[in-house]
Amino acid sequence: MLKAICSHEELTDSIFYCCVDDIINAPELEKLKNITHHISTTRFQHCLNVSYYGYKICSLLNLDARSAARAGLLHDLFYYDRKKYNANKSKGQPSHSRKHSDIAVHNAELLTDIRPKEHDMIQKHMFPMTLSLHKYKETYIITFVDKYCAILEFCVPRVQKIINRRTSNNED
Ligand SMILES: [Fe+2]
Ligand SMILES: [Fe+2]
Repeated sequence: MLKAICSHEELTDSIFYCCVDDIINAPELEKLKNITHHISTTRFQHCLNVSYYGYKICSLLNLDARSAARAGLLHDLFYYDRKKYNANKSKGQPSHSRKHSDIAVHNAELLTDIRPKEHDMIQKHMFPMTLSLHKYKETYIITFVDKYCAILEFCVPRVQKIINRRTSNNED
């Protein structure tokens, strides 16, 4: 089963899946399943969440939903440890926010053909930390969806825990 957070849709059967089916099972993305992201999820699941909701919003707004799905899936394609990087970072080195989006663009280009719009979405998804302005409406959407998903990924497991605890207390 492949699902985005807070969605019941089975993604392997969806039109969304056709937009990413050539890259979603690549070993470069598989590796992300073993990396924790935003404390409670994996980097793969986070990328899938951004990809799915970016696709949905762009579809609703008649924007380039395919590019949003692809850029969302690739926007955090990096493997280093953020905490270690920040701890060892010397003066003059780029911040993690800037560095990881540049690395993600590089890794994405090694994996597949990246359109200019997808490049913009991946490289600038950390706005306002990255400062450079977005060229496309889709980049604003991916930037927003990235933050929205991060909040969901942090909050949903905690809310679920509270609900489960209350349910088991009521059953006792
Ligand atoms: Fe990121
Ligand atoms: Fe992200």
